[in-house]
Amino acid sequence: MASKQMVHMNQGQGERSYVLGNAQQNRMKLLIEGAIIDLYSRTSTLLPEMMVIADLGCSFGPNSLSLVLVAVEAIHGYCLQFQQAPPELCVFLNDLPDNDFNTVVKSLVTLRRINDPVVVTGVAPGSFYERLFTSSSVHLVCSSSSLHWLSKVSEVLRRNQIPAYYINDHARREKLPMVLEAYAQQLRKDFRHFLELRAKELVTGGQMVVSIIGRHSDGIAPFHIWDILAQVLSIMASEGVIDKAKFDSFYVPVYGPSKDDLREIIQEEGSFSIKEFLVHDFLIDLDSALVTPSWIANQIRAVHEQIVVQHFGDVMDEFVRITERHWSLDTSLMQEEHVGLAMLTLSVTKA
Ligand SMILES: C[S@@+](CC[C@H](N)C(=O)[O-])C[C@H]1O[C@@H](n2cnc3c(N)ncnc32)[C@H](O)[C@@H]1O
Repeated sequence: MASKQMVHMNQGQGERSYVLGNAQQNRMKLLIEGAIIDLYSRTSTLLPEMMVIADLGCSFGPNSLSLVLVAVEAIHGYCLQFQQAPPELCVFLNDLPDNDFNTVVKSLVTLRRINDPVVVTGVAPGSFYERLFTSSSVHLVCSSSSLHWLSKVSEVLRRNQIPAYYINDHARREKLPMVLEAYAQQLRKDFRHFLELRAKELVTGGQMVVSIIGRHSDGIAPFHIWDILAQVLSIMASEGVIDKAKFDSFYVPVYGPSKDDLREIIQEEGSFSIKEFLVHDFLIDLDSALVTPSWIANQIRAVHEQIVVQHFGDVMDEFVRITERHWSLDTSLMQEEHVGLAMLTLSVTKA
């Protein structure tokens, strides 16, 4: 289970904290505003007197509040524009129980309003691959950059001791399609289950806006979306910094789907209809001057430090040093590594 692995991000504002995410959250703003308008137009005969909104996979950094803040402001803005009484709002933030909810709660109280319009807040710790809310109680679900985390690594790989990433180039080229298919199967199971659960929890006409780190559909050689991490760890294993057998049993429960993958799962599951589906290059919003070897190393560290340290012990300083050395040799590699990565942003309605 992902919850048994430490999948949460590093905390704080420093160079080791996770800062990816603002760009796609800005893109989601428009979709969230559209979802609020849809919610009101679908329920126009019986305007909701209270609404529940939730962000799943909120983490605990500066990003944790941004989606629900957009939603609250969009609801209040809509009501002001159309001269309607604002609903009472209940805002929930979700992440795995190991997340730093103390920090989340401190920021969440800033949203709380005890007078008109009432906004109450809460946390919903747990996996989004389990039930989080009561039936037909939620109006809007948001989730940013979280659903590429799987509930677990494929049993097929673990049971047969098939490494996620072969150190040997030839073996890796040969095995990677099979390895990725095992990951893709797990994503199909997980994402379908996620849709089934949210379909139970959302009201009819309820809205969901999510972004997922994934891949472009065509013409790209197979890769893990955590490829850079795997590459650097494989160098560390080759140089004896970490144990090779340990490296072979290291799996990150993350898979980046394509737009076609997600569309197929949503259509097959059948509870939701797709309203908008955007695909952007992952690096498009980044200033290329920012993307230095040291920046890459610290970003990977922020996202993966917990899971790496849990498996290998504290090898992070060495990890950063080798990442910087590896990419300083050829900076164009950094762009190539990201060329297939895409940010998938979609908005769906519960039928
Ligand atoms: C990359 S962070 C995204 C944080 C924030 N939403 C953002 O856009 O910056 C992914 C978050 O998903 C959480 N996560 C991963 N698997 C999860 C699960 N099964 N249930 C709930 N949260 C999960 C992680 O703990 C982490 O905080």
